[in-house]
Amino acid sequence: MSKPVRILGIAGSLRRKSYNRAALRAATELVPEGATIETFELDGIPGFSEDEEQNPPAKVTELKKRIREADAILIVTPEYNYSIPGVLKNAIDWASRPYGDSAWNGKPAAIMGASVGTIGTARAQYHLRQMMVFLNMFPINQPEVMIGNASERFDASGNLTDEATKEFIRQLLQNLADWTRRIG
Ligand SMILES: Cc1cc2nc3c(=O)[nH]c(=O)nc-3n(C[C@H](O)[C@H](O)[C@H](O)COP(=O)(O)O)c2cc1C
Repeated sequence: MSKPVRILGIAGSLRRKSYNRAALRAATELVPEGATIETFELDGIPGFSEDEEQNPPAKVTELKKRIREADAILIVTPEYNYSIPGVLKNAIDWASRPYGDSAWNGKPAAIMGASVGTIGTARAQYHLRQMMVFLNMFPINQPEVMIGNASERFDASGNLTDEATKEFIRQLLQNLADWTRRIG
């Protein structure tokens, strides 16, 4: 049997009852056989300064290590003002530096996101895809998992209850695992 695909999942919200953190938790249960998802929380990462990039905080060193250990990355992003939240951009920036030492380089990736609006993070996801061009990441294209009207798809305890969304996430993770094996 081939070795399991190790996916690192990162949600771009610090909110306790975050739909995106809940969607990532759901993903950890929907991952196909032959793959695993570990998660990394973005709390406690200070704002990026180029002055500090040669001597990053311990949490950033840990993030870069975890990214490098992973075969693939799953980013679950909210949409803030039509883009990705600052905490996620900040973490992406830290892990991309110093120049020439980006942890993201060459990583297969998948993107999904949940929003209380109807468009379900589409605009944020396309901004993230644009970033992945410069980061030299390889995001899969389909399915595009845009979880709109999130308040209707999770219960009060943060469990994903919408079966159609679960199926999209399953397919996304299967495609990510297949893609990672193909380009790995
Ligand atoms: C600063 C801010 C900006 C937001 N901008 C958008 C937006 O552009 N599009 C959208 O669909 N929802 C927007 N929202 C609402 C988010 O979809 C909602 O807060 C969502 O629950 C955030 O994700 P989370 O539950 O994972 O924290 C915004 C929320 C905040 C706090």
